[in-house]
Amino acid sequence: MKNKVVLITGGTSGLGASAVKAFADLEAKVVFCGRRTTEGSSIESQIRSKGGEATFVQADVTNEKQVEHLVSETIRLHGQLDVAFNNAGANLSFGPLEGMSSEQFMNTVMLNLTGTFHALKYEIQAMKKNGGSIINTASTAGVKGVAQGIAAYVAAKHGVIGLTKAAALEQARNQIRVNALVVSAMATEQWLQGVNRTPGMYEKIAAAMPLGKIATPEDITPLITFLAGDQSTFITGAALAIDGGVTAG
Ligand SMILES: NC(=O)c1ccc[n+]([C@@H]2O[C@H](COP(=O)([O-])OP(=O)(O)OC[C@H]3O[C@@H](n4cnc5c(N)ncnc54)[C@H](OP(=O)(O)O)[C@@H]3O)[C@@H](O)[C@H]2O)c1
Repeated sequence: MKNKVVLITGGTSGLGASAVKAFADLEAKVVFCGRRTTEGSSIESQIRSKGGEATFVQADVTNEKQVEHLVSETIRLHGQLDVAFNNAGANLSFGPLEGMSSEQFMNTVMLNLTGTFHALKYEIQAMKKNGGSIINTASTAGVKGVAQGIAAYVAAKHGVIGLTKAAALEQARNQIRVNALVVSAMATEQWLQGVNRTPGMYEKIAAAMPLGKIATPEDITPLITFLAGDQSTFITGAALAIDGGVTAG
């Protein structure tokens, strides 16, 4: 990854922040976004204090203009774009779908699916000349239904995988590879905050995992850097499960 230019959306916490650090450790030039400036600036300073190269740019992926600016800022700073990790996402709509407003439904779709579309659109434009690798964060909820009141998230993450496959085929001859990650429960700060509200919930979820444990972001980042690099040049259009066996059964 030395001197490769890597763009990461949703890099201010959780899996995205872990990926920012992993790419910086591999001597890439990282540009990352999120909406929270305090968290973004703090991660940027941590990496720079260790001699790494990372720049935080505030951007909301639901806003096309801000995503366009994020990509153009990356090109202004580093002259090219080699790798993108489109990771910004969350479930924003809880409850059974018959009680869900279309606004609630669209909020989740806007963040996870339209946000990924915005990023892909401008990243592909930037990569068209030299090729590149794009990785989108999907979920086990992107390959199977879940009866837990998260229908909008399930639909949006299925959409992320569809978008990944279409983009991969559209861009294959430009040598732009596009893949998706099928991630299961992952102990990120915000996920833990939610789970820890119910005593015993963490243990219950861990016990239901085939491997009997929940992933950390650091369990996932090696697959992201692998998909970004030269060891994976024949992988495109794939939704790769890194889910501790959840989708195997
Ligand atoms: N944790 C899990 O169990 C799990 C399981 C499967 C899939 N995933 C997926 O993994 C990805 C990362 O999740 P995580 O667990 O690491 O959660 P997280 O810590 O909440 O990280 C989400 C990231 O997305 C950013 N983000 C949210 N809304 C945004 C917006 N409108 N514009 C720009 N950035 C935005 C957040 O930054 P700001 O708040 O600063 O904007 C943050 O950096 C998500 O796509 C999630 O759906 C997570």
